[in-house]
Amino acid sequence: MIDSHSPSAASDEDWGERRRASHDDLRRALIGRIRDSRTDLASATMEIDPAEYIDPARHLRERDAFRRIPILACLSGDIPAPGDKLLFDALGPEILILRDEDNIVRAFLNICPHRAARVVTNCDSRKRMTCRFHGWTFDLKGRLIGLPGKEGFPDLDRAGRGLIPVPVAEWAGMIFVRADPDGAPIDVRAHLGAFADELQHLELGSALPAKHSKVETRTNWKYAWDTYCESYHFATLHATTVAPLLMSNVMALTPFGRHARMGFPRKNWQALSAQREQDWPANDYGGNYFIFPNINLNVSAGPNGEMFYGFYHLYPGEETGQTVTRMATYRPAHANGPQPISDWSDLHDFIEGVVVTEDYSVSEEGYGNLVHAPANFRSLVGANEILVQKWHDDWNAQLEELRPPEEIGSASVE
Ligand code: FES
Ligand SMILES: [Fe+2]
Repeated sequence: MIDSHSPSAASDEDWGERRRASHDDLRRALIGRIRDSRTDLASATMEIDPAEYIDPARHLRERDAFRRIPILACLSGDIPAPGDKLLFDALGPEILILRDEDNIVRAFLNICPHRAARVVTNCDSRKRMTCRFHGWTFDLKGRLIGLPGKEGFPDLDRAGRGLIPVPVAEWAGMIFVRADPDGAPIDVRAHLGAFADELQHLELGSALPAKHSKVETRTNWKYAWDTYCESYHFATLHATTVAPLLMSNVMALTPFGRHARMGFPRKNWQALSAQREQDWPANDYGGNYFIFPNINLNVSAGPNGEMFYGFYHLYPGEETGQTVTRMATYRPAHANGPQPISDWSDLHDFIEGVVVTEDYSVSEEGYGNLVHAPANFRSLVGANEILVQKWHDDWNAQLEELRPPEEIGSASVE
């Protein structure tokens, strides 16, 4: 299935200009914050009940929400050719995502319609998929095209025994899935709203995968997620890693509905704040794109000037205190300098190392403390931690929207 809304047409040069204009807008905003010695602020502080992080019933509701809303699974470059496949198990049921001979991206539950074995266990690029249990074979459209010993199934309705599809849509280089086979088709543009245009100029469809990894952490996924949303902690938690490069506690937030773009200025921009804008050096920087509810896309350049796209996908694990992070680093097509692709995988390793040893280390300890905190304890989110506040408001609103009508009715009676 493909989203009926195609990306709007523009030449490579147009996208480059729009990308540069967007990046300059963000840099202008951030240099303004430096010049004025300020960061964006919410109207007040926010208290968060630890139950939001540790309540098992809430965790089940959140896991259910992840199965019902569109989730960005990967980029087009992860399955670029017909026959390419990817297994995606972060939402509960394992989902097989593939590109068929007509270049259409499809997604199915990875459940054999015979007796529920996993159909694909190894992601090759073959045009047929054969279940290793009894050999039922499917084409890339999920149709049952072969079964050994067919005399054993005299009444079989082959058309009704294909792979079970789930909603999927590819748009502007992004592939979204919905894990519920009965869920509505995905309209990526509607899901992203005004954020769609802001993402489109990144030309994610031509980004080249450099490295993928998976990290499992003993914390609630929201505690880990919160660490991506603010730079208040850079000077302390990241004193020797991130802080030498980026300013602490200076942020510029641009909301796009429930999505958002956030900028964290580089330290060497302090010198630019005294210069005229036309004298600023060319510097490709796009900030952090937060695709609701669980994706942080870091658009920046590494130490050798290599532009990169770093994706950090966070998922609630099976238990309240389990988080799965899928990290993926891509080389944009316009990052066509002489650097070897190993520069991008080195960057991936550096960022993963910082996240795991610093952000996630604190997240595990903090979550452990929330489990044992006094009943009246509340976490306090500063006005400066503005995106943490916005995201929690938006996520709570999302959960309310998904609450069954009968629950809402009984809640209002109480
Ligand atoms: S379970 Fe797949 S062929 Fe039997
Ligand atoms: Fe951090």
